[in-house]
Amino acid sequence: MSAAQGAAPPQPSASPPPSSPRSQPLIGLRGVTKVYGEGALAFQALKGISLDVQQGDFVAIMGPSGSGKSTAMNILGCLDHPSTGAYLFRGVHVEGLSRDERALLRRRYFGFVFQGFHLLPRTTALENVELPLLYRGEPAAQRHAAATQALADVGLKGWEHHTSAELSGGQQQRVAIARAIVTAPAVLLADEPTGNLDSRRSHEIMELLWRLNVEHGITVLMVTHEPDMADYARRIVHFVDGQVERDAPNPAPLMLRPGHQSVTAATEALPAQSSGEPAILQAEPQAGEGV
Ligand SMILES: Nc1ncnc2c1ncn2[C@@H]1O[C@H](COP(=O)(O)OP(=O)(O)OP(=O)(O)O)[C@@H](O)[C@H]1O
Ligand SMILES: [Mg+2]
Repeated sequence: MSAAQGAAPPQPSASPPPSSPRSQPLIGLRGVTKVYGEGALAFQALKGISLDVQQGDFVAIMGPSGSGKSTAMNILGCLDHPSTGAYLFRGVHVEGLSRDERALLRRRYFGFVFQGFHLLPRTTALENVELPLLYRGEPAAQRHAAATQALADVGLKGWEHHTSAELSGGQQQRVAIARAIVTAPAVLLADEPTGNLDSRRSHEIMELLWRLNVEHGITVLMVTHEPDMADYARRIVHFVDGQVERDAPNPAPLMLRPGHQSVTAATEALPAQSSGEPAILQAEPQAGEGV
């Protein structure tokens, strides 16, 4: 289902040959630096980051505030470009692409999730999720079907016509994730996706990201300050002062640990409510005027 199998990247050499070795990383950063500002005001946010990410990986990026995590995520998601160094996406030198080509790459291959959800207010969940498809110029019927499916994939079947104000924080982040996956991205970039959520909702969101990684094959790169959340990842990278200080596999991601209790499974096991809305959503506290 991955968009990675879909249309070709924006230049002829961008298409990986069908026989490209599986060992070629999906993402490769080579000595990437980022300098903000100029002259006396110049600040080096990244000091030479090198990182390979294989397709299907789930990477948590940790590190102190200001260590360059978001800067690296913006470069990875083609929202920004490195000052020096190389960024290879499926073997293509992204730093050599034009702004328009990078935008095309971004829209085709990447989904973004942020701490603050970034949903349009007074707009329904369905309309929010349809937005990336609207930008792509897809017809209404296709947009509608894909957005409905994406909302179902994140456990929000039955909530399509609720506005953001009628949803809890956890539900809003699910809508944001549905919006990120509706284009079938190869890579999901999540910058502190649980930063605004309580512990239970955070674990629910992490279980969702895990499922998208395992069941949909989406490569996940997630920034977090919370070791409990990083524990869901297959690999944990630590940034310090614009550099990778540590990069190690997580030998036993939380969801694979024997005896691990899934919070989502526990929620889904709640008895169905008489309104007919999904039980998983009945458990969410309602923000604002309620639903
Ligand atoms: N647009 C910008 N212009 C100038 N400096 C910037 C800009 N964006 C980030 N920086 C600086 O670069 C450094 C790295 O910022 P970045 O946002 O990547 O850190 P972070 O690791 O994501 O931190 P946090 O955990 O607080 O989100 C910081 O010192 C920040 O002030
Ligand atoms: Mg940040």
